[in-house]
Amino acid sequence: MNPSTKLKVPFVDLKAQHQSVRSELLQALTDVVDTAYFVGGPKLQRFEEEFAAYVGTNFTVGMSSGTSALELALKVIGIGPGDEVITTPFTFFATAGAIHNAGGTPVFVDIEPGTFNIDPAAVEAAITPRTRAIVPVHLYGQMAAMERLLAIARGRGVKIVEDAAQAIGARRSIDGEWRLAGELGWATGYSFFPSKNLGAWGDGGMMVTSDDALAERLRRLRLHGGAKQYHHDEVGTNSRLDSVQAAVLLAKLPHLAGWSNKRRAHAASYTKALKDVSGVRTPVVDGANEPIFHQYTLRVERRDELQAHLKKHGVGNAVYYPVPLHLQNCFRHLGYTRGRLPEAERAAAEVISLPIYPELTPEQIGYVVDTIRGFYR
Ligand SMILES: Cc1ncc(COP(=O)(O)O)c(C=O)c1O
Repeated sequence: MNPSTKLKVPFVDLKAQHQSVRSELLQALTDVVDTAYFVGGPKLQRFEEEFAAYVGTNFTVGMSSGTSALELALKVIGIGPGDEVITTPFTFFATAGAIHNAGGTPVFVDIEPGTFNIDPAAVEAAITPRTRAIVPVHLYGQMAAMERLLAIARGRGVKIVEDAAQAIGARRSIDGEWRLAGELGWATGYSFFPSKNLGAWGDGGMMVTSDDALAERLRRLRLHGGAKQYHHDEVGTNSRLDSVQAAVLLAKLPHLAGWSNKRRAHAASYTKALKDVSGVRTPVVDGANEPIFHQYTLRVERRDELQAHLKKHGVGNAVYYPVPLHLQNCFRHLGYTRGRLPEAERAAAEVISLPIYPELTPEQIGYVVDTIRGFYR
């Protein structure tokens, strides 16, 4: 298609998703209104059960956001001043914000240039006697090298808290078996922010674990630390997933696998059409991984000019993330300087994400491809 034939391709299109499931979602909301269970109740319980089955774990605790899920799990570790938590600088801010707010010091290490995920060799080099946890992020929907991180943590008393906010249903083949994001860590946080692959109609999150004591603790902490109403053995917070969000998520969950298949198919179409374009590098999928393509992210030359070109031609796009976390002002006291984590810094300067939602049409994908090819011609 000629890029001068202007077609609008928004970066995300939640209205398109709602078209396909609108009546189911409205029925789910009606159920909530009719039962008048707005906090807790049957929708939350069923969603927690079905989500546990989906991500292959035993216990699920609905939370008010992905951020608070991560923060509460990290708090349970009992991190104190000077305790270190190793993580990636190339992620959404919440990953490191949760470490800080749980009382720990984020230790940023570099990423693998291909997958953009935390580099296990760099993690190993950063371990100290103060290391209490590692927080890998399965960025853009592709799992980090969990088997290597588990091997590093094992025997050192270091916990792995997975940040799977972008990776619900992503899998990795480990020793010949498919393992899901969230199945292997001590605890895993998910986000249901509306634009996530499984998005609520507001904020929402989930903590999952196979450790029943941890699940129990998290259930208390999300209710101000009280197992029995008005009796508090510890101070928690209000971090509940409300019933309206649980109802929306429960209604959407059966569609999620199909939506992820569509995202993978769109990613394959983009890669086929863009892999020979000079100035563009298509995503690298680790041979052991089956990603869910929360984002389809290129590395490109002249990124800012390309962004302007895409905007001019009505193609939505986004840069996740332009400033790596070790260079954020709020972490200046940690003493990182530019050049210290070169792969993360290079990625921040080169990445651009394209529209990848399930409802994209072949015409829209063709238009995005033609617009990019037109720029690098
Ligand atoms: C990698 C990552 N971690 C954590 C979060 C935090 O989730 P939430 O926005 O639900 O608090 C998000 C999403 O926004 C994310 O993308």
